[in-house]
Amino acid sequence: MESPQVKFTQLFINNEFVNSVSGKTFPTINPTTGEKICDIQEGDKADVDLAVKAARAAVKRGSPWRRMDACDRGLLMFKLADLIQRDADYIASLDTVDNGALFSTMKGCALNVVEVLRYFGGWADKIHGKTIPIKGDFFCYTRHEPVGVCGAIIPWNFPNEMMGWKLGPALCCGNTLVIKPAEQTPLSAIYMCSLIKEAGFPPGVVNLIPGFGPTAGAAISEHMDVDHVAFTGSTEIGRLIQQASGKSNLKRVSLEMGGKSPNIIFADADLDAAVEESHEAIFFNMGECCSAGSRTFVQEEIYDEFVKRSVERAKRRVVGNPFDSKTESGPQIDKAQLDKILGYVEIGKKEGAKLECGGKALGCNGYFMESTVFSNVTNEMRVAQEEIFGPVQLLIKFKSQEEVLEKANNVQYGLAGGVFTKDLDRALTVANSLDAGSIMVNNYSGGGANVPFGGYKMSGIGRDLGEDALVSYYEVKTVVVKVPVKNS
Ligand code: NAI
Ligand code: MG
Repeated sequence: MESPQVKFTQLFINNEFVNSVSGKTFPTINPTTGEKICDIQEGDKADVDLAVKAARAAVKRGSPWRRMDACDRGLLMFKLADLIQRDADYIASLDTVDNGALFSTMKGCALNVVEVLRYFGGWADKIHGKTIPIKGDFFCYTRHEPVGVCGAIIPWNFPNEMMGWKLGPALCCGNTLVIKPAEQTPLSAIYMCSLIKEAGFPPGVVNLIPGFGPTAGAAISEHMDVDHVAFTGSTEIGRLIQQASGKSNLKRVSLEMGGKSPNIIFADADLDAAVEESHEAIFFNMGECCSAGSRTFVQEEIYDEFVKRSVERAKRRVVGNPFDSKTESGPQIDKAQLDKILGYVEIGKKEGAKLECGGKALGCNGYFMESTVFSNVTNEMRVAQEEIFGPVQLLIKFKSQEEVLEKANNVQYGLAGGVFTKDLDRALTVANSLDAGSIMVNNYSGGGANVPFGGYKMSGIGRDLGEDALVSYYEVKTVVVKVPVKNS
């Protein structure tokens, strides 16, 4: 697979590609080379206002989208899924040049979007209320109505997939969207808008404003006519989004943020599998993954052997061109992220963790980093408490189940967790005891469109995917009707 030709670089409002009001542009960079791919139209507040107007008109009572039968809404989503499946290679290649992630990973993401749109498309005509037997001569029922205009602010680590996760539940409930892709990775989102139009969605249902966080992103989260904002990104910005809601119109807020997820390896685990899964748990997507298993707890009996094997595995990891099928890791997203990770390597060394391998940038034009392993890490260290978002494995020794549960939960985050053991009772006890939204037993990769995903504590509010994602996207209306004769 080769670098793709970029076809679209503009904002998408009311089913049209348009320039920004200011006429400003910003470059998007290929992190593999450090070079500019192209210039993108830069949206800000004025453009968000236009997009919200279009999205409001499209969701108004009586509009074609609002009047559309629920099953037809689902069919449109199936059509979009088919188009994304048709163009999955192209979409994946746009993401690979834009964020440096492996082509195979981005292709998997695009196919996940296909699955997500089909899953939620199937929900469209199954979202309905109840009849409720209240006291007196009344007929009482509930209706699930769209929330309205939904803002979506998405990150750069899985660009096409995060767009799909926001589109799915919002569209099937009959909402309209104003989406802001990450400034580092606008290309796949802009292209997917051309497929929204090709699929036949009415104008204004999906709008996209490429631009920066403090301008375009803030304009969405502060907007008085946006009813809901869904955000994936850092906990720091998640806080700002929640505050912006409080200061503006109290729009609903769904947040999917950082993590520092524990992956717990007991001495009785299948060692080969545990080493490999723990390696992938942190090195997958260059460590740029919110649910990464970024604290590996290893029981003391096997600790030294586990360190030895993990270091061997990390040294073997192939870092290079993300389009090459033999490559296991591409570059980090940008220079700022690379510098942040290198800064944490220095912090880890100062805190007394032992650098077993890696720790340096690869010293080329792209933002590549060596696969890095620290042993002798303790849970109190900053490297074990703060999200690094890079290829840095932290190996922490523990003695007992009680001790490891206490430490695993002693963190501000609660997104995911893993446990490796052959003892089923222990696996279930640990799964039930971790304060986290997703637990994986003897694996660190399971999930799917129908599996809820989101965080406890400061990792999030609400859930993406699965049936549990729907509640953020509909209002419940109660209707009480006087009837002459009491229902029996
Ligand atoms: P970020 O949280 O700044 O960016 C995520 C999205 O929020 C982007 O679209 C950005 O433009 C937007 N944004 C930024 N400031 C905003 C504001 N004031 N109002 C509204 N939207 C705003 O994350 P960033 O700076 O790219 O990465 C920093 C750290 O965040 C990473 O090192 C990592 O720890 C974490 N992160 C977590 C992600 C996750 O999947 N949970 C994804 C990306 C980053
Ligand atoms: Mg880029």
